[in-house]
Amino acid sequence: MSRSVNCPNCLAAIPADAAACPTCGADIQLMLLVADGRLLDQMRAHGAQAPVSAEQLVPRLGDYLVEQGYVTTEQLQTALAAQARSPGGSARRLIGQTLVALGFIAPASLDEAIARQLLALQTALLEANHTLEQRVAERTAELESALARLTEINQLKANFVANISHELRTPLTHIKGYSALLADATLGPLTGQQQEALTITATAIGRLESLINDLISYAAASRGELNLNLRPVSLAMVALQVLQHSQAKANRQQVHLSHTLTPDLPPVIADEEKLYWTLLQLTDNAIKFTPSGGRVVIGAVAEADIVHITVQDSGIGIPAANLDGIFEPFQQLDSSSTRRYGGTGLGLALVQRIVEAHGSRIEVATAEGQGSLFSFSLPCYGAGAELRVSARG
Ligand SMILES: Nc1ncnc2c1ncn2[C@@H]1O[C@H](COP(=O)(O)OP(=O)(O)O)[C@@H](O)[C@H]1O
Ligand SMILES: [Mg+2]
Repeated sequence: MSRSVNCPNCLAAIPADAAACPTCGADIQLMLLVADGRLLDQMRAHGAQAPVSAEQLVPRLGDYLVEQGYVTTEQLQTALAAQARSPGGSARRLIGQTLVALGFIAPASLDEAIARQLLALQTALLEANHTLEQRVAERTAELESALARLTEINQLKANFVANISHELRTPLTHIKGYSALLADATLGPLTGQQQEALTITATAIGRLESLINDLISYAAASRGELNLNLRPVSLAMVALQVLQHSQAKANRQQVHLSHTLTPDLPPVIADEEKLYWTLLQLTDNAIKFTPSGGRVVIGAVAEADIVHITVQDSGIGIPAANLDGIFEPFQQLDSSSTRRYGGTGLGLALVQRIVEAHGSRIEVATAEGQGSLFSFSLPCYGAGAELRVSARG
């Protein structure tokens, strides 16, 4: 392999063994010594510990001099013994200087040997850098292909979820239709027990339906099909609907559900249906993860052109280490919670996508055992926001 280094004078690439630079004609060894001299000056300027000779920049100079035939092993031994006898500290002679003092090597030859060794070191460093660059490029290519594969898998997953949930919806429509016919006695009179069974069935169908709808929305969102129908929306109305819908669950859990909405709350710019769904998910979580006797409060405060929306609970809270994970699809904290609390782990993943599609961010303030506060902001209708609505809608 032909190695190349750079000329210390003009920085052009030169063969590693070149005596002179083909570009600027500089004597390489001389240039290296000059460069060394500058380096040494700088090092001296930066403290007492700095080397005082180019010799100190090269490792195991004695062995190198023997290897290269500048001195014999015996001469080196003699010089080492002389060095050991010489005074210690900063006054101590280096091995090269000792060899010169003993007349075993001419000063010019020592300089030449040091320059050669420096050149070899520089070449090795350049090669190491080159290898490192190659490895970085290889790793980058590997990461890129892993990322492409991951994107592909994610796409497959989203397609699978979309297909399976559409397939589930069809039979569910039949189950729902026929149980409704049964429940309203269209297909004949019912006993009290049968009616009770159908009520329970209707609840289960409702849960299954909303689960399937969540899966469909999730699949659509992961394929980038989250379309917003932005309009002026009465946040107070939406929040009251959420409160109404969630009241039964709160009662069952013996959680106190309330709001701090004021009548003067301005309308916000949002997709009404998705805003409703978002607030419902946050409220559903808040109730679900709050033990009986606890509180859940939906709040909204207008500030300048923005409305801050909050859902606060006094529940189990979320350990700081798990905060990032809760927005990942299918993520639920601790596996046993699946059985204890139910759910798919899709709610917050979708909430985050919806809130971000509105140009906002979902934030969480929480601590384990201290409850949680989920919040996000939406622009008020007015103060220029109409422009955005008409532009998008
Ligand atoms: N208000 C909350 N209090 C405590 N933990 C919560 C709260 N909201 C969400 N979490 C945690 O985040 C996880 C993900 O929430 P989510 O995506 O809505 O899924 P799911 O409700 O189906 O479990 C939950 O399983 C729970 O561990
Ligand atoms: Mg949820």
